Amino acid sequence: MGCSDSDYVYLRQLVLSESANLIDPSRNALFETRLTPIARMAGATSLEDFVSLLRVDRTPQLHRAVAEAMTINETSFFRDGKPFDVLRDTILPRLVENNSKQQKLRIWSAASSTGQEAYSIAMLIREHFTELANWDVKIIGTDISRHVIEYAQRGRYRRMEVNRGLPARMLLKYLVREGDEWDVTPELRPMCVFQYANLCAPLPKLPVFDLVMLRNVLLYFPQQDRSCVFSDVYRQMAPGGYLMLGSAEQAEDSTNLFQPEFSRDCYFYRPVPGS
Ligand SMILES: C[S@@+](CC[C@H](N)C(=O)[O-])C[C@H]1O[C@@H](n2cnc3c(N)ncnc32)[C@H](O)[C@@H]1O
Repeated sequence: MGCSDSDYVYLRQLVLSESANLIDPSRNALFETRLTPIARMAGATSLEDFVSLLRVDRTPQLHRAVAEAMTINETSFFRDGKPFDVLRDTILPRLVENNSKQQKLRIWSAASSTGQEAYSIAMLIREHFTELANWDVKIIGTDISRHVIEYAQRGRYRRMEVNRGLPARMLLKYLVREGDEWDVTPELRPMCVFQYANLCAPLPKLPVFDLVMLRNVLLYFPQQDRSCVFSDVYRQMAPGGYLMLGSAEQAEDSTNLFQPEFSRDCYFYRPVPGS
């Protein structure tokens, strides 16, 4: 297939406006791989043909499908390790103390991809915070890609996925083997819900969060969209809440909203009151 330079510019612009994801021209070949199935379904015989169709067919679903297909969904259980140590040793103990009266905890895995981050937090809570067994704890995973939301909702992982980052003891305790795959146990499932949300569009109705995990997504966004997301996230957080970013991300352009703290080689952020 393949298409002209101006078609690639069009596709990159479409993805940027739909999802705020910047796609480097060096990755043009990815359009071909990711869009071929959608192009076929739309009746196009080549990528070029598909772009011509997109230019005239303004159906929002089709444009959204292109942006969703181009997302990078790389994730793993307990990704990067250290942030989960900080959650276990610093952030969750503080939240448990602060919320002990209402016995309620709301955690947002923003850009949750296939759900490993949300289920990792659920495991961490069940494993180290047994006193929360009767609390109202919800981990809400959101993502722009409906495909990964369905995957997370299914809670079934391939061998390759459970072999990445998940200690064997946790695997055997919190997932059940189903042939070649592994299912999240019924104990964890009710703690995690997954739904659609585009971080660069008005957010759906969501609760006020005590902890927001916003990891490995802002690095794909232009600065202006990052700032908008930080403002939206700030508004969505409890005053005593916590924000965690990916290891290659910082809230450097939102210092008026978030104050950094450092623990175990890891930054995390607190909302600045009254901003
Ligand atoms: C690299 S994954 C990171 C997953 C997880 N947070 C982690 O750190 O392992 C990035 C996720 O962000 C999602 N994403 C990209 N743009 C988004 C947007 N505008 N709104 C919501 N999610 C988005 C992608 O679909 C993808 O699942």
